[in-house]
Amino acid sequence: MHLMSTKTAALHVEGVSISFGGLRALNDVYLEIGSNEVVGLIGPNGAGKTTLFNALCGLVVPDEGRFFLQGESRDFPRTDELVDLGIARTLQGVGLFGDLSVLENVMIGAQHLAQSGLISAALARNIKDENRIRERARIALERVYAGGLASRRADTLSYPDTKRVAIARALVSEPKILMLDEPAGGLGVQDIEWMNTLIRNLSAQMSVLLVEHHMDVIMSVCSKLYVLNFGEVIASGSAETVRRDPAVIAAYLGTGA
Ligand SMILES: Nc1ncnc2c1ncn2[C@@H]1O[C@H](COP(=O)(O)OP(=O)(O)O)[C@@H](O)[C@H]1O
Ligand SMILES: [Mg+2]
Repeated sequence: MHLMSTKTAALHVEGVSISFGGLRALNDVYLEIGSNEVVGLIGPNGAGKTTLFNALCGLVVPDEGRFFLQGESRDFPRTDELVDLGIARTLQGVGLFGDLSVLENVMIGAQHLAQSGLISAALARNIKDENRIRERARIALERVYAGGLASRRADTLSYPDTKRVAIARALVSEPKILMLDEPAGGLGVQDIEWMNTLIRNLSAQMSVLLVEHHMDVIMSVCSKLYVLNFGEVIASGSAETVRRDPAVIAAYLGTGA
C-alpha cells in the first residue's frame, strides 16, 4: 500500500486496471498529482504509460479504478468533460493542421470546444466571439515564447516549434492540470533544456503530468516520479530515490533503454 500525502491532491487515482483482450496493460496502478507539482510518469516501452495517460483524459475507460479531483471521488472523465474539469493534454502525435496558421491552430482548440458545446456556459461567454478566441490564442502562444510564430503556416515550422504550438493549444483552455505525452520526444539537447524551463514556469500556474520514455529528460523538472513496468508501479518518489531503486535500474537495463 502506498501513502497518500496529507495535502489534498489536485488529481489522484487508485487501483487502476486495464486489459486489452488478454493483455493486462495496467494492474492496480496509483498516481497522485499535487497542486503546482510536476509529476513524471516513466518506464520502458510498453510499460503502460500512454494507457494510463489515456485513462486520465478519457481516451480509455478503465476496467477498475477510482478517480479523484481535489479529493472528490468521481467517474474517470470523458474527453468532453476535460475543459470543465480544468484538464488539458497534448498527445504523442502533435496533430497540427499544416495549411493553417499557427494562430489558427491554437484558436481551433477553443473554437472547436465552443462550437460543439463542450465547454461551460461561463467559458463559452468568455470566448464567444472570434476576437476573444484570437486574444486567448495569442496569450497562449506568448506563454510558450512562440508569439513570433503566430502568422506562420504550421507546415513551415521546425519540429521543436510544433511542440511549442501544441502546448499553446492545450493552454487556451486555461487548465489546472496539464498532461504532456512525451513532450521532449524527438527534441535535441538544447530544445529539451527549453522544454524543461517552460514546464517549470508553467508549474507556477498549474500541475503538470509528464509521460516520458527517457529517464534523464525529466529528472531535472519533476518533483516526483512514478515508474511503470509491465503495467505496475514499481517505484515512486523523488528523482534521486527512484534513480537508485534496484527495480528501476533492472527494468531499464532489461530493455536496453
Ligand atoms: N489499444 C490497444 N490494444 C491492444 N493493446 C494495447 C493497446 N494500447 C496499448 N496496448 C498494449 O498495452 C501495453 C502498454 O502500452 P502503452 O500504454 O502504449 O505503453 P507505453 O506508453 O509505456 O510505451 C503494451 O503491451 C501495448 O502493446
Ligand atoms: Mg507511450
